[in-house]
This record gives sequence, C-alpha cells and structure tokens, in this order.
Amino acid sequence: MASPPKQKRGEPSPAAGRLPETPALAPSILAADFGCLTDEIAAAEEGGARLFHLDVMDGHFVPNLSMGPPVVEAVNRATELPLDVHLMIEEPDRYIERFVQAGADLISVHQEVVPHLHRTVRFIHDCGASAGVALNPATPIGVLEEILPDLDYVLLMSVNPGFGGQRFIPAVLSKVAALRKRIEEIGARAAIEVDGGVGPENIVQALEAGAGILVAGSAVFDGRDPRARARALAALLAGARRRG
Ligand code: DX5
Ligand code: ZN
Repeated sequence: MASPPKQKRGEPSPAAGRLPETPALAPSILAADFGCLTDEIAAAEEGGARLFHLDVMDGHFVPNLSMGPPVVEAVNRATELPLDVHLMIEEPDRYIERFVQAGADLISVHQEVVPHLHRTVRFIHDCGASAGVALNPATPIGVLEEILPDLDYVLLMSVNPGFGGQRFIPAVLSKVAALRKRIEEIGARAAIEVDGGVGPENIVQALEAGAGILVAGSAVFDGRDPRARARALAALLAGARRRG
C-alpha cells in the first residue's frame, strides 16, 4: 500500500493551475489519431481549442483502458494550451502527482470512487493544479454541497464514462442549470464542464444551461479536418456568447 499523499496544514490551498477563459472548447484526444497526434493537436488548436481534455481509464472504475502520464507528456510537448486530465480511475491519489509532473494543469477525480474528497482536492491544489470533481450521469449534484466552495470546476458527465462516441444524455442539461444556480447562490467560483456526446447539435444548449468548458471528442476528431470541425464548434460558442 502506498503511503498517503503529503498534506500541508493550515488554510485550504488557493486555486492553482491554468483555467481557461470560458466558454472554452476542450477537444478530447481520446478520439484523435494517435499515429499523428501532434498534427491532430495543432489542427484542433488552430480551430479554436482553448485546452485539451485527456481521458485516463483504468479498466476498473470504467471498463476500458486508455492513456497514462507518457501520453500527457507527449501532448504537453505538442501544445502550450492547458491540459485537462480526467481521471476515471480508482485510487487517483496514487497518480495525481505524476500527472501534474507530466503536464496536467487541471485534474478531475470521480466522486463515486474517492472516499476522502476534501483531502484529494487539497492534494491536487498542493501539487499545483486546478481541481475538479466529476459526476456520473446518475450521481446527484447534492453530493458536492460541502466541497463546492473548494472546487475550480465540476465535470458533469453527459454519457456513462468509459468510451468516446456515445450519445449525449439530455437530462444532464437540467443538472447543469441546477448546479449553475447553486454555484451562484453560494458565490462559488467553480466552472462547469460538460463531457460526453457534445457536438454541434447540443453544444449551445449546454452552454446556455450554464456550462463553461465543453468537451468534444468525436465531434472534433472522428472524421476528416479536425481544424474545421473545431472551428465550427468554437464559432457556435462565440455566437451564443455574443447573443447571450
Ligand atoms: C468518456 C470520456 C469523454 C470522451 C468524450 O468516458 O470521459 O471525455 O472522450 O468523447 P465524445 O465527445 O466522443 O463523447
Ligand atoms: Zn472525459
């Protein structure tokens, strides 16, 4: 058993990391062609990506395996944009420091597998990253009530985690709106990130419900011309913001 992460005593850690200005398009590289990852990243960046989303899966919490710190390092070499690492893994405390060393600027952990959320969030901050908590579609936002003031962002899954290319679950939109309302009521700073099945048909709805970070995997990379596809999504966000 690994020793517990070192904790600093005293006041909660200040928010760290590099949160993007919102609204922000976050292409998920899970759907990218890893044979030409550098080109894929450059294209999405030219198309208007504001950060990159990296999905880490362990085959336990979710029934799939994906990437680890070496891929985060490779993406970090390919872009100056912030890296948003979504840990879909059990016992994330064991790996947080390594992901920050690899280049993670934002780190989210799943509430469903972290028994000591407050400690984990402080540890992410102490490592120098922005801290987020991710919720599965069936997990109510009420579980965040006590930790919300400490968070830099909340990741609301709009598919069941584990795979790219799934269909957006529309019920998440009311969850986004309710969380946005609660964040404003208590004067918290957390941004809301929506992840899964986001594309041209729902990205504006997610933004208007209150999301600030919009993750899109297959809508950017699953096809030709990720630059044009990212550009179209970024334009929808910019257009909605101008109208709003
Ligand atoms: C799903 C991942 C998502 C996924 C999004 O478990 O957390 O980030 O990569 O991909 P799309 O946009 O294809 O649903
Ligand atoms: Zn994700």
